[in-house]
Amino acid sequence: MERALDLARRGWGRVAPNPLVGAVVLAGDAVVGEGYHAEYGGPHAEVVALQGARERARGATLVVNLEPCTHHGKTPPCTDAILEAGVARVVAAIPDPDPQARGGAALLRARSVAVSVGLLAEAGAALNAPFLFAREQEERPFVALKLATSIDGRIADAAGSSQWVSGEAAREHVHWLRAGFDAIAVGGTTALRDNPQLTVRGPVTPRRPPVRVVFDRRAMLNLGVQLVSTAREVPTWVMSSLDAPPSSVTQLERSGVRVFRPTTLRDGLRMLREAAIQSVLCEGGGALGARLLADGLVDRLYWVQAPVWLGEGAVPAFPGVPPHPLAAAPRWTPVERRALGSDTLLVLDRRLCLPES
Ligand SMILES: NC(=O)c1ccc[n+]([C@@H]2O[C@H](COP(=O)([O-])OP(=O)(O)OC[C@H]3O[C@@H](n4cnc5c(N)ncnc54)[C@H](OP(=O)(O)O)[C@@H]3O)[C@@H](O)[C@H]2O)c1
Repeated sequence: MERALDLARRGWGRVAPNPLVGAVVLAGDAVVGEGYHAEYGGPHAEVVALQGARERARGATLVVNLEPCTHHGKTPPCTDAILEAGVARVVAAIPDPDPQARGGAALLRARSVAVSVGLLAEAGAALNAPFLFAREQEERPFVALKLATSIDGRIADAAGSSQWVSGEAAREHVHWLRAGFDAIAVGGTTALRDNPQLTVRGPVTPRRPPVRVVFDRRAMLNLGVQLVSTAREVPTWVMSSLDAPPSSVTQLERSGVRVFRPTTLRDGLRMLREAAIQSVLCEGGGALGARLLADGLVDRLYWVQAPVWLGEGAVPAFPGVPPHPLAAAPRWTPVERRALGSDTLLVLDRRLCLPES
């Protein structure tokens, strides 16, 4: 299953809104076929793995991180391919919650295939968290907050400079990360101070470039900012407010920016979901991230900790998050830990979306 999860990850940025799926065919202890869902609309992982195994799939075990699908979508049902290949046993990490695709386990059991679901279920759920979240609720997108901090939890020095808190390996990883999200968001202050492009310039070219979203209640952005000057090439949306000066809003719209006027952050996220955004990577700064956290609107934290001290007066990562007594403090679930050069990436989920069988 660990191998299936690794294979699944290779579809990052290319398969959404479909899930990431990897599959391994085992004949006894030998791996006789492997595959993953590589492209939206392309063959599913199970089919690729079974094609690789050919006649060795008869009587074999298929290990896959998501329950095989039963529906005719862009490709025929995986359950048909499994039955045709003569697979004896299927081991899946999590059930498929999709109303159209679900039910593969029951269908296969009814045709005398042994099926077990639940192996490495937590890792399986974490891998496809945005996909599972989108099927669980429709009010807002899955929100991940990414911050690079010093050892003492600062995102910029006292002068506001944050380029760069983290090292090159961590910054490269962020380009990989961006490819798997529908939108990349920042606060207005970050957009003005750092003047980021927020484009994907890494090893994965996303199937659809993520929309760039700026939470800028006062519509302070101007043409001098890259996000605005390139808005006709890469979509840029501004979450402004009803109080923003109409002339600033008109200016932004004339530059090709799509302006929304939500009443709250939650309302802004609802508008994003209505506009078909299922996942958002928020890259700061501290004020926006902390407000999202305080409002219970962050589902995952990508925390890059750099081995540097910035000290008193530097910009805090989480200003104003309300206090919790230790005994009742929320504890998040670590889903990944990894070294990125001299930095450390810790990925934490607020809760796991584990679908029911
Ligand atoms: N190390 C890192 O990972 C990292 C990442 C990003 C940025 N940075 C650094 O962080 C600094 C900027 O961070 P910051 O904390 O000062 O600002 P910020 O989070 O970038 O910006 C706050 C912005 O969010 C807007 N906003 C919209 N709705 C909001 C709401 N409901 N609540 C709060 N804010 C809302 C604010 O609008 P209003 O003006 O209307 O309040 C303001 O424009 C920069 O120095 C940047 O270099 C570091």
